[in-house]
Amino acid sequence: MATGRAPERGVESIMLLETKMLLRSFGGIRAVDEVSLSVEPGELRALIGPNGAGKSTLFSLVSGHLQPDKGTISFDERRIERMKPAARARLGIAITFQTVHLFQGMTVLENVMVGAHSWTRHEFVEAALRLPRYFREEPLIRNRALEALLRAGLEPWAGARAESLPLGKQRALQIARALCGRPKLLLLDEPAAGLRGEERRVLAELLLGLREEGLTMVLVEHDIGFVSEVADWVTVLDMGKVIAEGTPAHVRENEAVISAYLGSATADDVLGTR
Ligand SMILES: Nc1ncnc2c1ncn2[C@@H]1O[C@H](COP(=O)(O)OP(=O)(O)OP(=O)(O)O)[C@@H](O)[C@H]1O
Ligand SMILES: [Mg+2]
Repeated sequence: MATGRAPERGVESIMLLETKMLLRSFGGIRAVDEVSLSVEPGELRALIGPNGAGKSTLFSLVSGHLQPDKGTISFDERRIERMKPAARARLGIAITFQTVHLFQGMTVLENVMVGAHSWTRHEFVEAALRLPRYFREEPLIRNRALEALLRAGLEPWAGARAESLPLGKQRALQIARALCGRPKLLLLDEPAAGLRGEERRVLAELLLGLREEGLTMVLVEHDIGFVSEVADWVTVLDMGKVIAEGTPAHVRENEAVISAYLGSATADDVLGTR
C-alpha cells in the first residue's frame, strides 16, 4: 500500500504558483486550512477531494475573488495575496468557475471577447462609450477571440446566443474566454462536470493540447479516470487540508485518500476502490 509521501520531483525548479500556509475560514469552518501548494511551469495539476473539501475556495483565494485570513501566494515570483482579481488576471491568472457564468443576450464570440480585458489597454468605459482606443483594439480582440473559439471547437457557434448552447459547449465557452486573456495559469473548476463521453474526450484533448503548448493548469475534477488521462500529478484536499500528493495511481492507493472518499456516494466512481 502506498504511503502519503509523494515521490521526489522538481525540487530545484522555480514554481509558477506557490501557496504557503494559506488559511481561509467561514465562521467556524476552516475551508482552506494551511494549504501549501507548488505548481511548476507547464504542469497540469489535478486537485481532487470530496464535496466541501475546499477546492473552489482555494481557487478563489488564488484568483483573488476571496482574501486569505493568513498565508501567502506567489505567482511568477511575485506576492499576490493582497491583489485584486483584475490585477491578478493581468499577471496571467485565469479561472473558469464551477458554475457557468455567461453574459446573457450576447453572442458566443462577444462572450469570449470579454475575456480579453486582461491584456487590452482600453478601459471598460472606453468600450461602452465607443472611444477611439476601443476601436483601434477591437479588430485585434475579435481575432484573438476567434482563435480561442477555434481552439475550443466553438467556431461554428460564434454568432449564436451564448445561453442557447448546451452545457458542454457553455463550459467550453468559459475556457475559450479564459484563453482569450492569454493566461499563464488556468484554473479549471470542474470543467468536465455534466459532460458526456464525446464531450469529455474533446475536453481532454483540448487540455492536453494546451499543456503541449506549455500552459500551466490546475484542474478540479471528481472523475479519477479523467484525471489519470490528463494530469501527471494530483493534490488531494480533505476538510481544507492537503492529505496526499502524487501520481494518479499513487493517490488512488493511498489509505487516507480512500477513507476520505468512503461514505461519499461517489467513492467508487471516483477512486474505483470498491
Ligand atoms: N462563501 C461561503 N460562505 C460560507 N461557507 C462557505 C463559502 N464558500 C465555501 N464555504 C464552505 O467552505 C467549505 C469548502 O467549500 P468549497 O466550495 O471550497 O468546497 P469544494 O471542495 O469546492 O466542494 P465541491 O466539490 O462540492 O465543489 C464548505 O464547508 C463550504 O460549505
Ligand atoms: Mg467546488
